[in-house]
Amino acid sequence: MRIDILTIFPEMFRGPFSHSIIKRALEKKLVEIHLHDIRDHATDKHRRVDDYPFGGGAGMVMMIEPIERCINSLTKERDYQEIIFMTPDGEPLGQPLCNHLSTHKNLILLCGHYKGIDQRIRDHLVTKEISIGDYVLSGGEIPAMVLTDAIVRLLPGVLGDETSALSDSFQDNLLSPPVYTRPADYKGWKVPDVLLSGHDRRITEWRYEQALRRTRERRPGLLDE
Ligand code: ADE
Repeated sequence: MRIDILTIFPEMFRGPFSHSIIKRALEKKLVEIHLHDIRDHATDKHRRVDDYPFGGGAGMVMMIEPIERCINSLTKERDYQEIIFMTPDGEPLGQPLCNHLSTHKNLILLCGHYKGIDQRIRDHLVTKEISIGDYVLSGGEIPAMVLTDAIVRLLPGVLGDETSALSDSFQDNLLSPPVYTRPADYKGWKVPDVLLSGHDRRITEWRYEQALRRTRERRPGLLDE
């Protein structure tokens, strides 16, 4: 899979993408992530990417031309299944959407800033709009990192144990059960006996009951879906 990220702050991504699972996926060439500075596609000598909003009001609006030029430089090289704009008024991100996007070959993620991007980019170039939650962040960069992480960990071969993404919270509309490691007794805080029993079937049953109970207590709505 290939993910192209369009942003005016490419440096923001370098830290998050150079650790842990994403780092390993990049090293193993299971994913390619390309960062593009929208400013490199500006047409004037000041490398301007934003302008005042028509009709007045506070804040600047990202201009069409640098973004269109950046998108065109990519789409002329290969087909993209989606050109995704990260925005709080987009489709709410959930595990089913992550699963679906992880099956694509090429994705573009567009990060907005300031007051937003010219609506005509959304009308004519963007194919999907995604929100990571009902709160407003300063830009689309952190949402793009969230989406990238959620997708990359699902790609075949990325997680050590092939089944481990399947047991994540939300994959079956259940939250994950509690997990424990050594010591079995820490100052009197004990690990549930069943997990020490070596009895596989009872352990599986216990985990399922715990997942169900946790979901009922914390996110009952998931059980209706
Ligand atoms: N940009 C700013 N806030 C956002 C959010 N909650 N989701 C996606 N993109 C955003």
